[in-house]
Amino acid sequence: MAGRLEGKVAIVTGAAGYLGMAHSVHMAREGARVVVTDIIDGQKTVDAVTEAGGEAIFQRVDVTSWDDVQRMADDTRAEYGRIDILVNNAALVANIQKPWTEFTPDEWDRNLAVDLKGMFMCARAVYPTMQQQRSGRIVNISSGTMMIGMPNFLPYVSAKAGVIGFTRSLATELGTDNITVNAILVGLFPHEIAGLDNMEAMTEMVMGMQALKRVGQPDDLSPTVAFLASDDAGWITGQAIAVDGGLVRSGG
Ligand SMILES: NC(=O)c1ccc[n+]([C@@H]2O[C@H](COP(=O)([O-])OP(=O)(O)OC[C@H]3O[C@@H](n4cnc5c(N)ncnc54)[C@H](O)[C@@H]3O)[C@@H](O)[C@H]2O)c1
Repeated sequence: MAGRLEGKVAIVTGAAGYLGMAHSVHMAREGARVVVTDIIDGQKTVDAVTEAGGEAIFQRVDVTSWDDVQRMADDTRAEYGRIDILVNNAALVANIQKPWTEFTPDEWDRNLAVDLKGMFMCARAVYPTMQQQRSGRIVNISSGTMMIGMPNFLPYVSAKAGVIGFTRSLATELGTDNITVNAILVGLFPHEIAGLDNMEAMTEMVMGMQALKRVGQPDDLSPTVAFLASDDAGWITGQAIAVDGGLVRSGG
């Protein structure tokens, strides 16, 4: 398999999920060996990568556990000898939808722990390896909801806004190590989400706001993840790129 990620080792968090699986398969097609990580079983993603002719292993990782994320970095290094790419994709995706006054402090803490602190912990865990290599790519998955101020998902949207500040600040700190850090403002890629009962109406509404009048598919997004993870993107860092069919028409 020849591609722009030939010889690279990539960790994808939340890789058992809808988009994480697509990113894993796409990066494997581009030549990366993929460490599929998730709090739930990721064997389906490993199988999908294998079917696509790529190589992947699964590690069960809760991104809110420091022990787990350290083990993730240690085991990846033990297995493959390097870590080139971290895709911070895991999130509690819009799992609770309600007016902001109904969110409890515990729900807020849990959202922020998975969606924002988890990214810090994963980056912190892979950093010593990337620093030693003097190269690395960190791709943080944010959401266009923070640009449009989507109501009824306050902790999620707040965490995804935090991801942009995290990306910019970390990019500045890691520039001296030749490590790039970028974010993607992901538009709507509808799929069944537990706790979300109005996906059809939301899809119609969002499509009305998009410049491109069709529903986004994972393959509309994964190539940008792979690009930001590749050597081709070596001069891009600290950026937030919207991949959303023209939903928001400016960067983060
Ligand atoms: N689908 C969309 O329309 C959309 C829009 C904007 C942003 N995004 C972002 O894209 C990413 C992927 O979303 P998706 O639509 O594939 O959702 P998904 O729910 O299918 O995937 C999220 C994955 O994260 C995992 N996860 C949850 N908590 C975890 C934890 N503590 N540790 C490790 N893994 C954990 C879940 O098990 C799941 O497999 C998320 O960051 C999401 O915010 C998605």
